[in-house]
Amino acid sequence: MGGAEDLGAPASQEERPDGRPRTGARLGPSGRLRRLAAAFQARFGRPPTAVAAAPGRVNLIGEHLDYNEGHVLPVAIDRSIMVAFASRSDGRVRLYSLDFEQESAFDLEDIQRDPEAPWSDYVRGVAWALRGAGHRLSGLDAALQGDVPVGAGLSSSAALEVAALGAFEAASGLQLDRRDLALLGQRAENGFVGVACGIMDQMAAALSRAGHALLIDCRSLEHEAVPLPLEASGPAGRADLRLVVADSGVRRALLDSQYNLRRQECQRAAELLAADIADRTVTALRDVSLDDLARHGDALPPSLFKRARHVVEEERRVLLSVEALRAGDVEAFGEMLDASHRSLRDDFEVSCPELDLLVDLARAQPGVLGARLTGAGFGGCTVNLVRAESLETFREHVVARYCTETGREGRMYVCRAAGGLKLHCVG
Ligand code: GLA
Repeated sequence: MGGAEDLGAPASQEERPDGRPRTGARLGPSGRLRRLAAAFQARFGRPPTAVAAAPGRVNLIGEHLDYNEGHVLPVAIDRSIMVAFASRSDGRVRLYSLDFEQESAFDLEDIQRDPEAPWSDYVRGVAWALRGAGHRLSGLDAALQGDVPVGAGLSSSAALEVAALGAFEAASGLQLDRRDLALLGQRAENGFVGVACGIMDQMAAALSRAGHALLIDCRSLEHEAVPLPLEASGPAGRADLRLVVADSGVRRALLDSQYNLRRQECQRAAELLAADIADRTVTALRDVSLDDLARHGDALPPSLFKRARHVVEEERRVLLSVEALRAGDVEAFGEMLDASHRSLRDDFEVSCPELDLLVDLARAQPGVLGARLTGAGFGGCTVNLVRAESLETFREHVVARYCTETGREGRMYVCRAAGGLKLHCVG
């Protein structure tokens, strides 16, 4: 884990559609650290040893590809979950959430879920996963706080898992490979919390590099930082673009069951195609080409054909997007984003009227190079590539109009591409 980091950078803006600041302006990272350390001291009567922080993420492209073993291209954003901690010698873990103003405690020898404090299950889950992998853990006092919007599809859960893993790692004197750490986060979520997510979010929270997107091969878990042409963000930073996340305000209760259904459909499509493609092994839709689909698509019922087509075409779009970014061709990259949304809407069928409206409004703006839903879908956010000079237009003609037309509270977050898991020294 890295050493202390420069905390001077301003926080990404969260803006109301009318441009007025939100009440209770958001603290920057150093303000959050100070407040968290003070809360820790007040709660536990001693200062924390350090603070582990892990970011939320927005996926640029490669949607619903991680569990099909394809490539994805997420970006960590400058919104994070922070866990201030100090170790204990008695095997007890005491947690305090500043956001929920609630305490939850457990013994490492007996880790159960806490229905009264479900936020604590992610921390309990990573302790369970670490112990299951044979690591000896120290107990902890920990205070938690986050500014990743919850339930918006920006992976606040993965951020919490990865930050908690960072805290247990440091407090217990472990040294975990970052990929293994991400896998432990996923294990916690799949096996303890009970959500069947893929590996993208935890990898992004653990391994991202500031100013870059993270290209992940979700089969081998090989990964590579891809420079982004965003404001002040590395060698390609000349196009003066902004990454704008627009939150539809829609939160879908059925998300888990729909997500699981898509996973099963992809699995089934891969099995049917594998039986039809005799000349080589197909274990996931990753192994299927456009040519395969053209020849063997008849083996699939129409709905599964559409699911498979999304996956196969999206895999190609990810690789073309990386090429376009490397070549500085931001227009071509924007077109990939647009095509991805159409495919998610028509073939994978994970959009909803609100996300479609946000995307249609964005596309009508000349300064928007591309727009698509991001994350699992059925609500949550869109990701937009916007020219810096068009931010005002975006606020007025996309977010404000969305709010008027739907009566919902839409929001926009102008995000920076942040780095992954960090350990901050305090005091
Ligand atoms: C959720 C899951 C990820 C991924 C996306 C869809 O965010 O947690 O693993 O499957 O949906 O791309």
